Amino acid sequence: MTNLRVGHGLDAHRLAPGRVLVVGGVPVPDAPRGAEAHSDGDALLHALADALLSCLALGDIGDAFPPSDERWRDLDSRRILAHVLAQLDALAPGWSLVNVTVVVVLDAPKLGPLRTAIRAALAEQLRLAPERVGLTFKTSEGLAPDHVQASVTALVRLP
Ligand code: C5P
Ligand code: MG
Repeated sequence: MTNLRVGHGLDAHRLAPGRVLVVGGVPVPDAPRGAEAHSDGDALLHALADALLSCLALGDIGDAFPPSDERWRDLDSRRILAHVLAQLDALAPGWSLVNVTVVVVLDAPKLGPLRTAIRAALAEQLRLAPERVGLTFKTSEGLAPDHVQASVTALVRLP
Protein backbone atom coordinates (compact mmCIF):
# COMPACT_ATOMS: atom_id res chain seq x y z
CA MET A 1 0.00 0.00 0.00
CA THR A 2 1.28 3.52 -0.78
CA ASN A 3 2.59 5.19 2.36
CA LEU A 4 1.58 8.83 2.06
CA ARG A 5 1.87 11.52 4.74
CA VAL A 6 0.41 15.02 4.57
CA GLY A 7 1.96 17.94 6.46
CA HIS A 8 1.05 21.55 7.08
CA GLY A 9 3.06 24.63 8.07
CA LEU A 10 2.08 28.20 8.86
CA ASP A 11 4.17 31.32 9.43
CA ALA A 12 3.76 35.08 9.71
CA HIS A 13 6.11 38.03 10.04
CA ARG A 14 5.53 41.72 10.64
CA LEU A 15 6.59 44.03 7.81
CA ALA A 16 9.08 46.78 8.66
CA PRO A 17 10.96 49.42 6.63
CA GLY A 18 14.65 48.89 5.94
CA ARG A 19 14.35 45.14 5.39
CA VAL A 20 14.53 43.18 2.13
CA LEU A 21 11.32 41.22 1.49
CA VAL A 22 12.28 37.64 0.58
CA VAL A 23 9.59 35.20 -0.59
CA GLY A 24 10.57 31.61 -1.31
CA GLY A 25 14.23 32.61 -1.49
CA VAL A 26 13.50 35.32 -4.06
CA PRO A 27 14.06 38.99 -3.09
CA VAL A 28 11.07 41.14 -4.07
CA PRO A 29 12.37 44.21 -5.96
CA ASP A 30 11.20 47.63 -4.79
CA ALA A 31 9.26 46.30 -1.77
CA PRO A 32 9.13 49.24 0.66
CA ARG A 33 9.11 46.90 3.67
CA GLY A 34 10.49 43.48 4.50
CA ALA A 35 9.83 40.89 7.19
CA GLU A 36 10.98 41.71 10.70
CA ALA A 37 12.76 38.58 11.94
CA HIS A 38 15.87 37.14 13.48
CA SER A 39 16.50 35.33 10.18
CA ASP A 40 15.81 36.79 6.72
CA GLY A 41 12.09 36.41 7.59
CA ASP A 42 11.13 34.27 4.60
CA ALA A 43 7.69 33.18 5.85
CA LEU A 44 7.15 30.94 2.83
CA LEU A 45 10.31 28.91 3.43
CA HIS A 46 9.63 28.73 7.18
CA ALA A 47 6.11 27.38 6.57
CA LEU A 48 7.42 24.99 3.92
CA ALA A 49 10.14 23.60 6.19
CA ASP A 50 7.60 23.16 9.01
CA ALA A 51 5.18 21.42 6.60
CA LEU A 52 7.86 18.89 5.65
CA LEU A 53 8.76 18.26 9.29
CA SER A 54 5.10 17.82 10.18
CA CYS A 55 4.70 15.09 7.53
CA LEU A 56 6.86 12.93 9.77
CA ALA A 57 5.81 14.51 13.09
CA LEU A 58 9.36 15.79 13.61
CA GLY A 59 8.62 18.97 15.55
CA ASP A 60 9.33 22.35 13.96
CA ILE A 61 12.19 24.51 12.69
CA GLY A 62 12.50 26.30 16.04
CA ASP A 63 14.06 23.10 17.41
CA ALA A 64 17.12 23.36 15.16
CA PHE A 65 17.05 27.15 14.56
CA PRO A 66 15.93 28.86 17.79
CA PRO A 67 15.46 32.62 17.24
CA SER A 68 17.41 33.21 20.46
CA ASP A 69 20.59 31.80 18.85
CA GLU A 70 22.91 34.54 17.54
CA ARG A 71 24.29 32.15 14.92
CA TRP A 72 21.01 32.44 13.02
CA ARG A 73 20.83 36.24 12.80
CA ASP A 74 19.85 37.25 9.21
CA LEU A 75 20.07 33.57 8.26
CA ASP A 76 19.30 32.74 4.61
CA SER A 77 16.17 30.59 5.09
CA ARG A 78 17.18 28.35 2.20
CA ARG A 79 19.63 26.91 4.73
CA ILE A 80 16.69 25.99 6.99
CA LEU A 81 14.95 24.16 4.15
CA ALA A 82 18.22 22.41 3.17
CA HIS A 83 18.65 21.28 6.78
CA VAL A 84 15.11 19.84 6.88
CA LEU A 85 15.58 18.04 3.54
CA ALA A 86 18.81 16.50 4.87
CA GLN A 87 16.96 15.48 8.06
CA LEU A 88 14.33 13.64 5.99
CA ASP A 89 17.04 12.02 3.84
CA ALA A 90 18.70 10.74 7.01
CA LEU A 91 15.56 9.59 8.83
CA ALA A 92 13.51 8.27 5.91
CA PRO A 93 15.89 7.18 3.12
CA GLY A 94 14.00 6.82 -0.16
CA TRP A 95 11.32 9.36 0.81
CA SER A 96 9.97 11.55 -1.97
CA LEU A 97 7.82 14.61 -2.25
CA VAL A 98 4.55 14.23 -4.20
CA ASN A 99 3.63 17.92 -4.29
CA VAL A 100 3.53 21.09 -2.21
CA THR A 101 0.93 23.83 -2.29
CA VAL A 102 1.61 27.29 -0.95
CA VAL A 103 -0.61 30.27 -0.08
CA VAL A 104 1.09 33.61 0.59
CA VAL A 105 -1.02 36.41 2.08
CA LEU A 106 0.44 39.85 1.41
CA ASP A 107 -1.43 43.08 0.64
CA ALA A 108 1.45 44.73 -1.30
CA PRO A 109 3.42 44.56 -3.45
CA LYS A 110 1.92 42.22 -6.03
CA LEU A 111 3.79 38.93 -6.21
CA GLY A 112 2.17 37.71 -9.44
CA PRO A 113 5.07 38.96 -11.61
CA LEU A 114 7.44 36.80 -9.51
CA ARG A 115 5.33 33.63 -9.63
CA THR A 116 7.51 31.86 -12.21
CA ALA A 117 10.74 32.82 -10.43
CA ILE A 118 9.47 31.77 -6.99
CA ARG A 119 8.07 28.49 -8.29
CA ALA A 120 11.35 27.71 -10.08
CA ALA A 121 13.38 28.52 -6.96
CA LEU A 122 11.20 26.25 -4.81
CA ALA A 123 11.16 23.45 -7.38
CA GLU A 124 14.94 23.53 -7.67
CA GLN A 125 15.55 23.36 -3.94
CA LEU A 126 12.89 20.67 -3.47
CA ARG A 127 14.18 18.66 -6.48
CA LEU A 128 10.59 18.69 -7.74
CA ALA A 129 8.97 19.50 -11.09
CA PRO A 130 7.57 23.06 -11.06
CA GLU A 131 4.14 21.58 -11.93
CA ARG A 132 4.16 20.05 -8.46
CA VAL A 133 4.60 23.42 -6.73
CA GLY A 134 1.25 25.20 -6.36
CA LEU A 135 1.58 28.89 -5.61
CA THR A 136 -1.37 31.08 -4.63
CA PHE A 137 -1.09 34.75 -3.73
CA LYS A 138 -3.81 36.48 -1.76
CA THR A 139 -4.29 39.89 -0.20
CA SER A 140 -5.78 40.09 3.28
CA GLU A 141 -8.25 42.66 1.90
CA GLY A 142 -6.70 45.15 4.32
CA LEU A 143 -7.20 42.98 7.40
CA ALA A 144 -3.46 42.35 7.90
CA PRO A 145 -1.69 45.11 5.97
CA ASP A 146 1.45 44.95 8.12
CA HIS A 147 2.13 41.23 7.82
CA VAL A 148 3.34 38.64 5.36
CA GLN A 149 1.87 35.21 6.00
CA ALA A 150 2.34 31.81 4.41
CA SER A 151 0.53 28.50 4.66
CA VAL A 152 1.99 25.35 3.07
CA THR A 153 0.64 21.84 2.62
CA ALA A 154 3.04 19.07 1.59
CA LEU A 155 2.48 15.47 0.61
CA VAL A 156 5.30 13.00 1.16
CA ARG A 157 5.61 9.40 0.03
CA LEU A 158 7.56 7.06 2.28
CA PRO A 159 9.16 3.90 0.91
O1 C5P B 1 -6.60 38.53 -2.47
P1 C5P B 1 -7.22 38.74 -3.81
O2 C5P B 1 -8.19 37.66 -4.16
O3 C5P B 1 -7.83 40.11 -3.91
O4 C5P B 1 -6.03 38.68 -4.88
C1 C5P B 1 -6.33 39.06 -6.19
C2 C5P B 1 -5.19 38.70 -7.15
O5 C5P B 1 -4.01 39.38 -6.80
C3 C5P B 1 -4.84 37.25 -7.25
O6 C5P B 1 -4.87 36.91 -8.60
C4 C5P B 1 -3.43 37.15 -6.71
O7 C5P B 1 -2.66 36.25 -7.46
C5 C5P B 1 -2.90 38.54 -6.85
N1 C5P B 1 -1.98 38.89 -5.76
C6 C5P B 1 -0.66 39.15 -6.06
N2 C5P B 1 0.19 39.54 -5.05
C7 C5P B 1 -0.25 39.69 -3.81
C8 C5P B 1 -1.58 39.41 -3.48
C9 C5P B 1 -2.44 39.01 -4.50
O8 C5P B 1 -0.23 39.03 -7.20
N3 C5P B 1 0.61 40.12 -2.87
MG1 MG C 1 9.29 32.79 10.21
